Order: sequence, then structure tokens, then C-alpha cells
Amino acid sequence: MNFLQAIQPDRVPAHVAVIMDGNGRWAQKRGLERAQGHIEGVNSVRRITEAACRIGVKYLTLYAFSTENWNRPKAEVNALMGLLVSCLHKEMPLFMKNGIRLRIIGDMESFSPEVRQAMNEALQHTQGNTRMDLVLALGYSSRWELTEAFRKMAGKVKEGRLQIQDIDAEKIAEFLATSFMPDPDLLIRTGGERRVSNFLLWQIAYAEMYFSPVFWPDFTEEMFYESIVEYQSRERRFGNVPTKPAEA
Ligand code: FPP
Repeated sequence: MNFLQAIQPDRVPAHVAVIMDGNGRWAQKRGLERAQGHIEGVNSVRRITEAACRIGVKYLTLYAFSTENWNRPKAEVNALMGLLVSCLHKEMPLFMKNGIRLRIIGDMESFSPEVRQAMNEALQHTQGNTRMDLVLALGYSSRWELTEAFRKMAGKVKEGRLQIQDIDAEKIAEFLATSFMPDPDLLIRTGGERRVSNFLLWQIAYAEMYFSPVFWPDFTEEMFYESIVEYQSRERRFGNVPTKPAEA
């Protein structure tokens, strides 16, 4: 089946979020260093970014480095940092050609000045692009994000600039790192695990989940398109009743 052709263009999810898992196992299976899996993973990032752009996704959020990833062996963290910096430089033509605006959600302060500089340059360089936002979750975890939001809100309440009765779901969303975009419609996780791993916990309240057994470096455009077709076959109810009653 050609999944690209099966996609209904008017029902493409506006926001797709991806937990890119399986780089390490991909490498280990081949007797390679884990870092080699991340290097290969960058090719998948490029492929899936172009594929998302092609079908009209407006926001693609990739879980690239979690707050917990700082606990990995130093050599692996260093390899990921080097890869991130080179990626932000090397992929600039791809971003510009496809009208991609880069965004970062996460604790940028936790990165070295060199990495932060590369991030800021890429953010500035692409800020005029409007076709798709590529949102990299870097130094990100939901609990970090929610803690930050609660701190900021509490500060405003204390200063009298926010009334407790004005705090609702919409107001909380304004304090999150993701305030500039809608919630994900579809969450994809590759690599066979079926968990959310501290990613966009608030925002995925009504997201459709799609789990692929394939390691991220092996995840192809076709597999991405397949996830979109599967998403389009589901009925989203947002807590409501089915639009068509079940047949007896
Ligand atoms: C999970 O695989 C993946 C990551 C922790 C990092 C994802 C990074 C990339 C795809 C490279 C592009 C991103 C940057 C920062 C340049 P894993 O190592 O947890 O795999 P495993 O579950 O098989 O061990």
C-alpha cells in the first residue's frame, strides 16, 4: 500500500509529536557504539521532517534530549551535544529550503555556552519561516516544564498580577513552554516501548497514540505516512459520545 497516497489532505494532524526511541539498541544490535545510533538517528530526523512538511503538518515536535538524558555516560552526552551543534549548522539549508522555523522547548540554560549559541543562531536565522515549526525538545521534561509554570504563576499571584480565580486550563497552558502552538493531535513513539517518558504530559490529554516497534534510525517516510493514515482512521471524541451510534 502506498500510504502517502492514502492520506486525506484535509485531515492531516496539525501537530505531530515524536518520541524518537531506539537509537542505542539500533547501534548495539550492530555491535556499534550507542553514539553511532544517534548519528544514524539524525538521518531519520531529516527524513521525517521533510515528510511532515510535505503533507502539511504545521508543528513537528521531536523529543531530542530529556532532562533525564543528562544522567547518561559522559561520552554519550558529549556525542549528543556535538551532534546537536553540527546538526543545527548542517541542516540550515534544509530548514530554509522547506520554510521551517526552528523552536526549542526545554531548559536552554542547562546547556553549555557553545551549544546555546548554536541554538540561538538557528532560532534567529529561521524565525521568518512560516511553513512548519520544527520544535526540538531539548533539556525538556514535562515535570520540569510544569514546575517552572507553577513557580511563575505563584510569583504572579504573590505580586497580585494574577487572581487565583482566573487560573483555568487555558491560563495554565499560557505558562507552558508550548504556549505558541496547539496541543499534539498525534504522538508517535518508535522503538517498541509503550510509555510517555515525561513528554508533553499536559498537552497530550487528547492526543492519539501510535507505537511503532521500529528503532528510530530505521523509521522511514512510509512508516510515518502509515501512522498518519492510522490516525485518520480513528474517531476523536474528546470525551464526547460517538458521532454514529454503535451497531447492535
Ligand atoms: C533515544 O534513543 C534517543 C535519544 C535519547 C536522542 C535522540 C537524538 C537523536 C535522534 C539525534 C538527533 C538529536 C540531537 C540531539 C542532535 P535511546 O538512546 O534511548 O535508544 P535505546 O532506547 O535503544 O537505548
